Amino acid sequence: FKPSGAKEVRAAAQAFMNMRDRIQRYIDQRTALLASVSHDLRTPLTRLRLELALAPPFKRAEAMRGDMDEMEHMIDEYLAFARGEAGETPQEISLVDLITAAGEDARRAGAEVEILASAPLTAWVRPLAFKRAISNLAGNAAAHGEHVRLTARALPSGGFEIAIEDDGPGIPDDMHEEAFRPFSRLDESRNQNHKGVGLGLAIARDVARGHGGDITLERSDLGGLRALIRLPG
Ligand SMILES: Nc1ncnc2c1ncn2[C@@H]1O[C@H](COP(=O)(O)OP(=O)(O)O)[C@@H](O)[C@H]1O
Ligand SMILES: [Mg+2]
Repeated sequence: FKPSGAKEVRAAAQAFMNMRDRIQRYIDQRTALLASVSHDLRTPLTRLRLELALAPPFKRAEAMRGDMDEMEHMIDEYLAFARGEAGETPQEISLVDLITAAGEDARRAGAEVEILASAPLTAWVRPLAFKRAISNLAGNAAAHGEHVRLTARALPSGGFEIAIEDDGPGIPDDMHEEAFRPFSRLDESRNQNHKGVGLGLAIARDVARGHGGDITLERSDLGGLRALIRLPG
């Protein structure tokens, strides 16, 4: 906006815009740093992987490959977080197809999956970012629960809502905000075999907010967590 009005108001507005620019520069710098570090890590990791593949078989090889998979997964998540997929062009996508695809991934991860969707339902979203948000949440549900339910429905307001629920241990109400914080993982001992760096929920919330909506967490009727993404129409 353009500062106008009394001198003091204009000065305050100008100071506010300067602050906004400083914060934006700070965020951009941090994001660029995270992206370049992650990107740089890829090269030596690829080299290690190649060396391991060419080495004569040895006892620890399988475990090392597992560690490398985990590192690669972390780097992917860091890059996704840094990139934010903000530059993507919005497209109209089918929400039913979207939750069906996320459900198939959850099924492959070993969960029993239920898809509930009324009538054909479409939305204008940035497809890669939005798919990543949903698959992060479905991945969490499959990692923590055995039964996963994905629901898409239109809201009377014209927007829509996607619910991702599971029958796992859930997250206590007073830990919800903590769970959304980047790099935060709750109770690591509980899910040791679950690869993650604590960015899944942070990315999903960024994406939802970037679309003008939000994500909330609550207890599911299934007993575990219910993540609700709501986007305005
Ligand atoms: N469906 C869920 N049920 C129980 N706990 C969950 C669920 N989803 C996320 N959490 C908790 O919130 C933390 C943060 O989740 P997330 O941001 O996806 O990070 P990550 O999965 O990489 O650990 C997880 O470490 C886990 O403790
Ligand atoms: Mg996760």
